[in-house]
Amino acid sequence: MIDSKTKVVGVIGKPIGHSMSPVMHNAAFSRLGLDYVYLAFEVSDLGGAIGGMRALGVRGFNVTIPYKVDVLRYLDEVDAVARMIGAVNTVVNDDGVLRGYNTDCSGAVDALISKVKLKGCKVAVIGAGGAGRAVAFGVAEKGAHVLVVNRTLVRGEELVSSVNGFYPGVAECGTMEGLKDASVVVNTTPVGMVPDVGATPVLNKFLRKSHVVMDIVYNPIETRFLRDARSLGCVTISGVEMFVGQGAKSFELFCGKKAPRDVMRDAVVGLLGK
Ligand SMILES: NC(=O)c1ccc[n+]([C@@H]2O[C@H](COP(=O)([O-])OP(=O)(O)OC[C@H]3O[C@@H](n4cnc5c(N)ncnc54)[C@H](OP(=O)(O)O)[C@@H]3O)[C@@H](O)[C@H]2O)c1
Repeated sequence: MIDSKTKVVGVIGKPIGHSMSPVMHNAAFSRLGLDYVYLAFEVSDLGGAIGGMRALGVRGFNVTIPYKVDVLRYLDEVDAVARMIGAVNTVVNDDGVLRGYNTDCSGAVDALISKVKLKGCKVAVIGAGGAGRAVAFGVAEKGAHVLVVNRTLVRGEELVSSVNGFYPGVAECGTMEGLKDASVVVNTTPVGMVPDVGATPVLNKFLRKSHVVMDIVYNPIETRFLRDARSLGCVTISGVEMFVGQGAKSFELFCGKKAPRDVMRDAVVGLLGK
C-alpha cells in the first residue's frame, strides 16, 4: 500500500510516455515487498525538476534523453565512471546530496560478458552518441580494443580520443570494412528501432558467423540487425539485456537490495510483446 512512508523514485526525460522503466522497477519493488513507487516525469525545466526532487526528498531517479549530459551540472558528486563517459543515467539522493552514476555502462558490459570474454578482443562500436560512449568505455575498461564506426567522423574521433585519454592506444576509428577484424559488434545507434523496423545499421555483407552481435535497441526485442546476424549463425544479445542490466544496477543503488533481474526482464518482455 502506498502511504506516507513510501519512498519515491522515478525517471526524468522528454518525451517519457513510452518509458518501460516504471513497469520494470515497480514489478521488482512489488516482488521484494519494498515500500517504493517508481514514476515517470516529463520534464521541460531540468534545473527546476532537480530542485523539486531535492525539496521533496525523492530517493533517486533515472535520467534519459535529452538530459544525460546536462544533468551533471546540477549534481553534488559524480561517480568516476560517469565522469569519464560524460553522462549520468542514475541519480541517488542521500539526505540532500545528489550523486550521479552511469549504469548504461555496466548494463552493457554485463550483457556482453554473459556471452563473450572481452579481454583482448576487438569490439566494433557502431555509433558514438551517449550510449556509444558508455559501451566504448565499458569494454575498454575490461581490456578490449575498440573500433568506433560512426556516421559523423568527427564525433567518432572525439570518442576515440577520449577513450585513448584514459586507456592509451586502445581505441581507433574505422569503417564497416574494419568489422572483419572484430569479434564483437555492438549497435548503439537508434537504427532499427520502432517504427523503422526494416532498417539495419550494418549490412549483412559486413557480418561474419564468428561475430558476437549485440543491439542496444530493445524495441523490437529482436531487431532486423539481430535477426540477420542470427540467420548467419552469430551469437546475438538483445538490447533488453542491457536495459534490464542498467535498471537492475539503478534499482540496487536506490534501495540497496539485490535486484530480481528475472522479474524485471519478464516485466519488460511482457510489455514489449503486447
Ligand atoms: N538498451 C538500453 O538499455 C539502452 C540504453 C541507452 C540507450 N539505448 C538506445 O540507444 C540508442 C542511442 O541512444 P543515444 O542516447 O546514444 O543517442 P545519441 O546520443 O543521439 O547518439 C546516436 C548515435 O547514433 C548515430 N545515428 C543516429 N541515427 C543514425 C542513422 N540513421 N544512421 C547512422 N547512425 C545514426 C548518431 O550518429 P551521428 O554522430 O552521425 O549523429 C550517434 O552516433 C537509442 O535508440 C536508445 O533508445 C538503449
